[in-house]
Amino acid sequence: MESDIENNRIGEDIPRIALSNGEKIPVVGLGTFGSDNYNANQIAGAVDFAVRNGYRHIDCASVYMNESEIGNTISELIIEGVVNRQDLWITSKVWNDAHDKVIESCKKSLKDLQLDYLDLYLVHWPFPNYHAPGCDGDARNPDSRPYNHDAYMETWRQMEQLVEMGLVKSIGTSNMTIPKMELLLKDAKIKPVVNEMEIHPHFQQPELFNYLVGKNIQPIGYSPIGSPKRPERDRTEDDTVDIEDPVIVKIAERLKLHPAEVCIKWGVQRGEVVIPFSVSPVKIVNNLKAVSGEPISSEEMKQIAGIDKNCRLIKGQVFLWEGAKGWEDLWDLDGKITN
Ligand SMILES: NC(=O)c1ccc[n+]([C@@H]2O[C@H](COP(=O)([O-])OP(=O)(O)OC[C@H]3O[C@@H](n4cnc5c(N)ncnc54)[C@H](OP(=O)(O)O)[C@@H]3O)[C@@H](O)[C@H]2O)c1
Repeated sequence: MESDIENNRIGEDIPRIALSNGEKIPVVGLGTFGSDNYNANQIAGAVDFAVRNGYRHIDCASVYMNESEIGNTISELIIEGVVNRQDLWITSKVWNDAHDKVIESCKKSLKDLQLDYLDLYLVHWPFPNYHAPGCDGDARNPDSRPYNHDAYMETWRQMEQLVEMGLVKSIGTSNMTIPKMELLLKDAKIKPVVNEMEIHPHFQQPELFNYLVGKNIQPIGYSPIGSPKRPERDRTEDDTVDIEDPVIVKIAERLKLHPAEVCIKWGVQRGEVVIPFSVSPVKIVNNLKAVSGEPISSEEMKQIAGIDKNCRLIKGQVFLWEGAKGWEDLWDLDGKITN
């Protein structure tokens, strides 16, 4: 992918946040889930372009099925001298079908990514339930089970081992709820330093966000723009569109930004790490630039706090077990773990 926007290069300026273990994570990372829209080579091309234009944080996962292409890109960037390994922040995640073989799965990601350590490794979902890639929203795996804390702790023990083995610098969770996190914090030897979770202006999750901050666990916001190109299986009639919200549009007009960039700026100003996805050079650069320049005013921050619609987009219904009432069962909405 060729750049005609070299002048926008930001270099090493991207701010970092210190995690509870002292590691410093860049506040913007490039998402790499191409959904049904982009193939692995296109995404590896986006990684190449992003790193050449200042990104230092890449959010990967084995289930995105593009780690070996991204690994080739990272390796070439390092050999070419564009970036040093120690300046990059590379995240990967263990998929739901590998909760009983975390170390093996991490080693496979390391091999594919051509790295000897990961900066961050996450348990992608707190359930060992999985489905075929690209399946529709009604697909159910008959082996799916509700959350089981003993089983999760067996998975977490392997995560802790990865730190002890030096294969991973930091470990964290994704798609957790407060009741599940309470149990993990009680039993973990090495506590999670982040939780990756859906966050955008129409789904701010204030209770979980404030809980995590209070426990010194950094929220990483996924789908920060409201995932406008998410797969059909993740769409329902009631979903709302963040980048069309009049409050976001008005702030975008004042700051001369795209509404998507306002969503990113808002997330970082709120104290999140954000991981927007794009393969478009202009959008990739603009998403990084969005965190600098004139901030959203405190009055505008209050207005955005007022447009939360509690609109979860990534409901996770394909992970449901037999007997579950609906996707809400994955999210412990009444404050207790549903099983
Ligand atoms: N932990 C988890 O369970 C989990 C779940 C979901 C996602 N994630 C991670 O989070 C990342 C981001 O989430 P996401 O891809 O769902 O959603 P997103 O980042 O909210 O939205 C991505 C889409 O927004 C559009 N976009 C990006 N920048 C834009 C800009 N400046 N102006 C206008 N449109 C823009 C892109 O369109 P174009 O395609 O046209 O460029 C892209 O397809 C994923 O790639 C993945 O790494 C993690």
